Amino acid sequence: MQTQRWVLAQRPDGLPAPGDFKLETSQLPEPKDGEALIAVEHVSVDPGMRSRLSGDSYAAALGLGETIESAGVGRVLKGNARLPEGALVMGGFGWASHAVSDGRGVQVLDPAVFSGSISATASIGVLGIPGLTAYFGLTDLGKPQADETLLVSSAAGPVGATTVQIGKQLGLRVIGIAGGDAKTAYVRDILKADAVIDHRVGDLTMAINKAAPQGIDIYFDNVGGEQLDAAILNMKPKGRIVVSGQVSEYNAAEPRGIRWVTPFITKRLRMEGLVVYDYRKQFGEAQAAIAGWIRSGALSYREEIIDGFEKLPEAFIGLFRHENFGRRLVRI
Ligand SMILES: NC(=O)c1ccc[n+]([C@@H]2O[C@H](COP(=O)([O-])OP(=O)(O)OC[C@H]3O[C@@H](n4cnc5c(N)ncnc54)[C@H](OP(=O)(O)O)[C@@H]3O)[C@@H](O)[C@H]2O)c1
Repeated sequence: MQTQRWVLAQRPDGLPAPGDFKLETSQLPEPKDGEALIAVEHVSVDPGMRSRLSGDSYAAALGLGETIESAGVGRVLKGNARLPEGALVMGGFGWASHAVSDGRGVQVLDPAVFSGSISATASIGVLGIPGLTAYFGLTDLGKPQADETLLVSSAAGPVGATTVQIGKQLGLRVIGIAGGDAKTAYVRDILKADAVIDHRVGDLTMAINKAAPQGIDIYFDNVGGEQLDAAILNMKPKGRIVVSGQVSEYNAAEPRGIRWVTPFITKRLRMEGLVVYDYRKQFGEAQAAIAGWIRSGALSYREEIIDGFEKLPEAFIGLFRHENFGRRLVRI
């Protein structure tokens, strides 16, 4: 049986290019005793992977020739003691069409959870790392109190959309920032944000001030750069800035950095980043809460599925061109 994988061919310079990735086809090794064979069906593309293509991040840099890492959902073709044949499973299979595994780090998807309004691919989206980042970033670092005002950047993306909706569940007034008519309509009409700002139109600092004249208590930052500065200028005293991601900085040779630091003093602001894996022991409780909100109709999620293993690099690069609308997955 032939298997395919995308590997890192060279380190990107700025925005990644298709030539930074190489598709390799090889003969699939026969699984050894105790090993399972998985046919990967869906693979995620994640902006956070960009940093590891160039150097060390919170995990070590990916080596040249190594498979691009990502989450995936697949079906067990040949089972073992942990993974029954025919089961749907999720794991960090990377950009690869097959995985051979002893079962460690691979989870069998419980059909009682992953059915009806919860797709199998939700396990690598709203119930996976993006949804968990929203949950722990907001509830732990954001320290939300009912009636406070929450501002979320990239509010139509998988982390942002989940943050907006959890914020509503916690009784916050929520303002989303997104780019373009379709995304802003989604944040307002489907996610039920109280106000939406299109970052492509007008002066962002003034637009935030108009949406929240009393100021922002919590800024959930997925983007960094100009949007972060605009948020800082609108923070209330004792405001909290949760640093989830910095998409606008990932391709920059030199970071733009934060221009407005004095408000941290005058307004006693706090800014803190998270690595979602630090909350691993609490993943179960967060997943139960998010699944409950989905089943009750209080929380929705949007997946954008692109067909074709060969499209993986373009699907990934598109994240930095504002092209994705929801959790972007590639179906093999
Ligand atoms: N800390 C953690 O443990 C952790 C875990 C997972 C993810 N994250 C981070 O969470 C953030 C959100 O991740 P996600 O998976 O939900 O992806 P995402 O928000 O959908 O990221 C892509 C979106 O970011 C916006 N964007 C892209 N380039 C931009 C630029 N130069 N300037 C401003 N906005 C830009 C675009 O939205 P618009 O079209 O609306 O502008 C684009 O569609 C990322 O920064 C990611 O690294 C952190």
